[in-house]
Amino acid sequence: MSLSEQINNSGDLIGHERRCKVWAIGGGKGGVGKSLVTANTSICLALMGYKVVTVDLDLGGANMHTCLGIPIPDKTLSDYISKKITNFDDLLVPTPIKNLHIISGAQDELGIANLKQMHKNKILSKLNSIDADYVLLDLGAGTTFNTLDFFISADKGILVILPEPTSIENTYRFIKSVYHRRLKMIEELLDIQPLISQAMNAKLNSPQSTPIDLVKRIIEINPEMGTKLQHEIAKFRPQIIMNQIRSQNDIDIGFSIQSVCKRYFGIDMDYVGFLDYDSTVWQSVKKRKPLLMEFPNSRLVNNFDRIVHKLLELN
Ligand SMILES: Nc1ncnc2c1ncn2[C@@H]1O[C@H](COP(=O)(O)OP(=O)(O)O)[C@@H](O)[C@H]1O
Ligand SMILES: [Mg+2]
Repeated sequence: MSLSEQINNSGDLIGHERRCKVWAIGGGKGGVGKSLVTANTSICLALMGYKVVTVDLDLGGANMHTCLGIPIPDKTLSDYISKKITNFDDLLVPTPIKNLHIISGAQDELGIANLKQMHKNKILSKLNSIDADYVLLDLGAGTTFNTLDFFISADKGILVILPEPTSIENTYRFIKSVYHRRLKMIEELLDIQPLISQAMNAKLNSPQSTPIDLVKRIIEINPEMGTKLQHEIAKFRPQIIMNQIRSQNDIDIGFSIQSVCKRYFGIDMDYVGFLDYDSTVWQSVKKRKPLLMEFPNSRLVNNFDRIVHKLLELN
């Protein structure tokens, strides 16, 4: 069944196993289409019959409710953080779309940026145990530790990128920040701080060296630990989506980013697809209605169909 048929039919998939998978949608910059991707990927999955919860983790700009066509829910993550609501499940608010619930973002200064470690861990463990097939996190812009940690701890980390220098730069910055944060965690996990310092000091001789050179050097110093480190780093496999595509050149930028990251960081990324630049996006934003529901014949429906199938294939 095509996605447009599913939009009209809301067909149910039966018999699939229930185990919540968390997908985080991020990107270095605001306005690149993270919320668009989160909302419409959630809708696609819900229309396919999966039980989906979309969580708005955008600190200053929680607007997922609008993307999904509902008013600000009266229960938000702020209420949970401030203990006004103690049962996490009470945060789940239904949307007009079958199988799709939302957890609305913090609306005040008790935002994600200021989340204490303890709160973050608590929310992370609650997110992982939501009774759903897919939990999608809309991360908002920036590279604060909290945002990075939500990205890192998800089963899938998806980056939305515009074919513009500023967005590309921010994407590299985001990947670099996640890479370093993970390296720190792996360092502690494997207890190899001295080994990394030794390899980093050697780096002073060659200022051009990359993270991939660092890992090579660690393997030379200590093959066993170095290989373990390499293995842990390889688990970081972000997926990228190019948004607002107007030409083949724009599409190709995704492949360049993929190969630069392989050469520089030694990480593999999956280029899961692109979204055309399309005026139905702002028309749906203006109408405060989800794009896929309001314009089921838009080119973006096919774009999302391909992306979501690719994401499911890579599960
Ligand atoms: N594919 C697209 N075609 C046209 N406009 C788009 C597209 N993607 C995003 N936009 C525009 O960019 C704005 C920002 O998108 P949004 O999803 O809110 O970004 P983010 O969540 O990353 O800040 C949207 O309101 C829309 O006007
Ligand atoms: Mg947003």
